[in-house]
Amino acid sequence: MDIKAPRGVRDILPDESWRWAYVLDVTAKTMVDFGHSEIHLPIFEQTELFSRGVGDTTDIVEKEMYNFTDRGGRNLTLRPEATAGMVRAAVEHGLCAQGAASRLWCWGAMFRYERPQKGRYRQFFQIDAETLGLSGAVADIEVIALSAEIFRRLGLRNLEVVLNSVGCPKCRPVYREKLLAHFSANKDKLCKDCLLRLERNPLRLLDCKEPECGALADAAPAIYDCLCDECASHFEEVKSGLSGLGFPYKLDKRLVRGLDYYTKTAYEILSGDLGAQNAVCGGGRYDNLSESVGGPHLPGVGFAAGVDRILLVMEEQGCSFGKRPQKEVYVVAQDDTPAVRDAALGLAHRLRVEGIPVEDDAGDVSGKKRSFKAQMKSANNAGVTWACLVSLGEDKEIALVMKNMATGEQTAVQPEDVALRVKEAR
Ligand code: HAM
Repeated sequence: MDIKAPRGVRDILPDESWRWAYVLDVTAKTMVDFGHSEIHLPIFEQTELFSRGVGDTTDIVEKEMYNFTDRGGRNLTLRPEATAGMVRAAVEHGLCAQGAASRLWCWGAMFRYERPQKGRYRQFFQIDAETLGLSGAVADIEVIALSAEIFRRLGLRNLEVVLNSVGCPKCRPVYREKLLAHFSANKDKLCKDCLLRLERNPLRLLDCKEPECGALADAAPAIYDCLCDECASHFEEVKSGLSGLGFPYKLDKRLVRGLDYYTKTAYEILSGDLGAQNAVCGGGRYDNLSESVGGPHLPGVGFAAGVDRILLVMEEQGCSFGKRPQKEVYVVAQDDTPAVRDAALGLAHRLRVEGIPVEDDAGDVSGKKRSFKAQMKSANNAGVTWACLVSLGEDKEIALVMKNMATGEQTAVQPEDVALRVKEAR
C-alpha cells in the first residue's frame, strides 16, 4: 500500500497498547487518590485559545500548530496541549464558580508539528492534571507530588525534578531588563533564533540548546534576585514543602518552559534514560492564563506527562506492566458440520457473556473453516488455559470436552458447567 501513516505519527499496535492501558490504569488510580476528576476535552479548539493562551511568540504557536479552517470558515487548531482547554472548559461550565477549586485530569492525543525523533512525535499522548482556583503554594506542591507519585507507582527510576520560578508580570519586567542587558552585550555570539528572541521574548534565550547561547545563558543573571516578595515567598514555600515531603529537586535558573502562560512555579521531571528528549513531565503555575483568553481571574497549577516517553523509559528500565490480558479458552469445533459449528459458536458466546475471554475459529480469509489440527495449533499459540472441544457424539448429541492445556487432562462436561469450571480453576 502506498498510503502510510503521516510522518511523526505512529500506530500503537496491540503489543504496545496493553502496556498503555496499564500506565493509564495506574495513572487513573493515582489521580483519584489525589482528588482529581477525569474530564474529556475536544481535540480541536478555536485557534485563539492557544495563540492567546500559550502565547504568540512561542515555538508552539509560531511553528508547530496544526491549524485549519472548517467548512463554516472557523479558525480551528488541533490541540497542542491540554491546559488552555482545561481552563476554557472550567470557565465555560462554571466549575470554579463562587471561588470553588477544581482538580481535573485528562489524557489524550496532542499535536505539534515538530521534527520527529526518538520520544518526539507530531501526534503524542499526554496525561494532564490541573488544579484550578487555588493560589497557595500547597497546590503547587501537591501537583508536583502527584506527578512524582505516578512515576513511583509505575516503577520509573533515575528521574530528576528540576524546579524554577519564572516570577509574575510584576517582577518579570525587572528580570527582562537584566537579561536584555546581559544578552545585548553579547549579541555577536547569539544564534539567529536568539537574536529574534532578544527582541520578542528575552526569557526564551535561557532555553536555547545552541552551545554558545547555552554558555551565555549559564552566565546570565538568575531570576531569584528579581522576584517580588510574593513570588519569592511562594517559591520558598514550594521548596520547603517539597523538602518536607522528602522530594529531592534541583534548582535550574534556566528552566523557563516553552509556553508563555507560566507564573511563579515552573518544573520538569527529567529521565536519565531518554536521550535528547529527556523530559517525561513538565508543568507549573499559570495564574493569568484564564484572563489572557478572556476569562475571569482563575489561578491554576498543573502538569502534563508524555505517555509515549513514559513507555520508552519503562521499557528501557525493564519496569513491570502487570499481566498482559490473555484469552482463557479456545473453543475448537472438531468437525465442520453445522451442528458442531453452531454449538461451538453458542459455547463461545455463552462464555464471553460470563466475562471469560474466548477465542474460536471464525474461519480463514476465504471463509473456510479451519481443520481440527489447525485450531489446536491456534489454541496452543494463544496460550489459553483451556481448549473446549466440541464434537458430535455417536448418539448424534453434542459432546463437550475441556482440555487443560498445561496438564493435557481432558474432562467431559455439560455446556452449562464450563464457565463455572473455568472460574473455579482461576
Ligand atoms: P510541555 O512541556 O510542552 O507542557 O509538554 C509536557 C510533556 O509532554 C513533555 O514533558 C513531554 O513528556 C511530552 N511531550 C511534549 N511534546 C512532545 C512530543 N512532540 N512528542 C512526545 N512527547 C511530547 C505542556 O504541554 C503543558 N500544557 C504542561 C502543563 C500542564 N503546564 C501546566 N499544566
